[in-house]
Amino acid sequence: MKQLVTTHNSYWEGKRKTLFDNSTSSRKKGVLRSEAYLTTHYTPEKPVGRETEIGEIAEAVRPLTHRHDPNNLIIFGPAGIGKTTCTKYVITELENQASVKSVYINCWQYNTRSSLLTELLIQLGYPAPRKGKSIDALLSKVREWLDKNRGVAVALDEFDQLDDQTKIIYDLQMINEEAENPIGLLMVSNQHPTRITLDPRSQSRLSCKTLEFHSYNAPQLENILQDRVDKAFRPGTVPKKVVEQIAETVAENSGDCRKALTLLLNAGRKADQEGKNKVTINDIQ
Ligand SMILES: Nc1ncnc2c1ncn2[C@@H]1O[C@H](COP(=O)(O)OP(=O)(O)OP(=O)(O)O)[C@@H](O)[C@H]1O
Ligand SMILES: [Mg+2]
Repeated sequence: MKQLVTTHNSYWEGKRKTLFDNSTSSRKKGVLRSEAYLTTHYTPEKPVGRETEIGEIAEAVRPLTHRHDPNNLIIFGPAGIGKTTCTKYVITELENQASVKSVYINCWQYNTRSSLLTELLIQLGYPAPRKGKSIDALLSKVREWLDKNRGVAVALDEFDQLDDQTKIIYDLQMINEEAENPIGLLMVSNQHPTRITLDPRSQSRLSCKTLEFHSYNAPQLENILQDRVDKAFRPGTVPKKVVEQIAETVAENSGDCRKALTLLLNAGRKADQEGKNKVTINDIQ
């Protein structure tokens, strides 16, 4: 036992310098310059490609800029293909360029009627209402806001995760009809619109357009990846054929951009761990 402890200590003493080497010299070398651009926390300033889809989302909310009724829109398609990125981009620009209030809510996080309406009110600038306020009281606050302001674009991401989808849509559409200014709903979902559970009353009130996002093909993924390579890696460290290989592999399997970015990040990390000055095809795992 005693001997084991000694061995253990000497292991740590011997390796201490290299186990987590964070020295300036080690950070200056290597292929990766900033991993942050390859993580899901990074939001691109402008999505690469997807101009058509961005145009369609913008068209749906554009009437809000003239206080007219917008088109509600259901945005759908498989995972990792830019639905959230494009929706957030459009509503951010709507606020920046046209000063139309925009709200983004992830329904995974706020998946009940009262939590969603509470979050909506907080983002509209109301102080957090005390717990247990009735749905009617929350709705009348939303209506009050719409009577006093210009209208609002509300993006409900992960819409399929919402309990009571039908009630919430009905609630919001009722307010929409009564209030001075409109709400424009962007409902983002993995599910095909026919699988979203709205009763006929909500469905007919909603008068909704749909926008399908399709999986990325290899050239589209290549463009997205190249943009990230330029930001995240040192110049000249990622050969074009590495980007092409990742794009092809992912396009064949799912077209999921998240997976492509993870493959690129891991390839960069592997090249760095092995002290290479270029990423190679063998680093893709
Ligand atoms: N056109 C694009 N330009 C730049 N980055 C993109 C683009 N499309 C997707 N990405 C990146 O890919 C990742 C996944 O994109 P996003 O979250 O928008 O997918 P999603 O379609 O909303 O997926 P999910 O259905 O799982 O929510 C994000 O990190 C995003 O930055
Ligand atoms: Mg998403």
